[in-house]
Amino acid sequence: MLKEFHQINLCDRNSFHVEQRASRLAEFENEEDLRQLFSDGIPPKWYVLSGGNNILFSKDYEGLLITPVSRRITQLDDNGTQVRLRVDAGVEWDDLVEWAVERQLWGIENLSLIPGKAGAAPVQNIGAYGSEAKDAIRSVTMYDVESDTLLTLDAAHCEFGYRESIFKHRLKGRVIITSIEVELSRTPSPRLDYGDVRQEVEARGGVTLRNIREAVCAIRRHKLPDTAVLGNAGSFFKNPIVDKTLGEQLKAQYPDMPLYPAHDDSKCKLAAGWLIDRSGLKGFRRGNVGVHERQALVLVNHGGATGTEVIAFARMVQEKVMETFGIAIDTEVNIL
Ligand code: EPU
Repeated sequence: MLKEFHQINLCDRNSFHVEQRASRLAEFENEEDLRQLFSDGIPPKWYVLSGGNNILFSKDYEGLLITPVSRRITQLDDNGTQVRLRVDAGVEWDDLVEWAVERQLWGIENLSLIPGKAGAAPVQNIGAYGSEAKDAIRSVTMYDVESDTLLTLDAAHCEFGYRESIFKHRLKGRVIITSIEVELSRTPSPRLDYGDVRQEVEARGGVTLRNIREAVCAIRRHKLPDTAVLGNAGSFFKNPIVDKTLGEQLKAQYPDMPLYPAHDDSKCKLAAGWLIDRSGLKGFRRGNVGVHERQALVLVNHGGATGTEVIAFARMVQEKVMETFGIAIDTEVNIL
């Protein structure tokens, strides 16, 4: 059933907890609700506000925000090895991971504790600890606002990349994701090579699905601030992808600088957290906004910050990194 709100305070609907308002917000369960919502025509300004974990409201939103609330996980197929699920857009991503781990299904355990809803997972192809949502997503179903139809796009056509997909580009402002189809496996496929994962898994008694989930949760809890305590939107910046020659020059200059391969062989990925840290900004605070003291990639709201303040602070961080290393870092968070 469609549920509408007017002049609503967004503080509890964005993990930065900035105090902005939206003129209108609609919670939907299914395609029928969306048809009803758009039955009088497409409003001039609308946006999907999912869990609000990757968004910064720079001002009040003078338009319609649309939030998925349906939370079903439906098993579509089980061939004994692979299990296919339909996951409604409103399912909390971490509830899905827990659901899978309880049933001994492999594939998304490294994505434990990522805040947000399943419908948002394909948009920025959420990723952590050597896994990305694209590894498990088989298709995405969406309501196309212009044609008033429900479409399903296979993963191969979703143009997934590092924190990238077609939903951030060609389909932006056109579709509303209603569900995703995910394929998980009963065959163990542990991914332990990122950072401290292996060590944390061993410390818990060895490689099991449950131990991997708990190891990842522990690492995240240690590094990343709890949004209930300190407003934040996870990584505020993307790790920059630069030409390999530039990456290697920097590495020669700073031997302890992390350098990762990129999807494209002529490029490499730098760690924005390291760049910000080494620009001297880790833990730095100005007014109500700061760089998190344990993970420099995360900006935090120490309380009462407005979107404008966060943006001004983020610019300062970008300028400092540019000044120190000559590298541009782009925001990962969607700024509205
Ligand atoms: N580093 C520092 N100082 C810092 C932060 C990081 O020196 O303050 C160094 C680390 O020591 C490490 C490297 O930078 O050598 C990378 O750090 P980390 O492993 O913490 O990961 P990240 O690149 O900073 C990315 C994702 C995270 C994800 C982690 C783990 C992006 C934008 N962020 O962060 O995703 O959890 O890897 O896989 O790709 C998110 O998207 O919101 C998010 C939290």
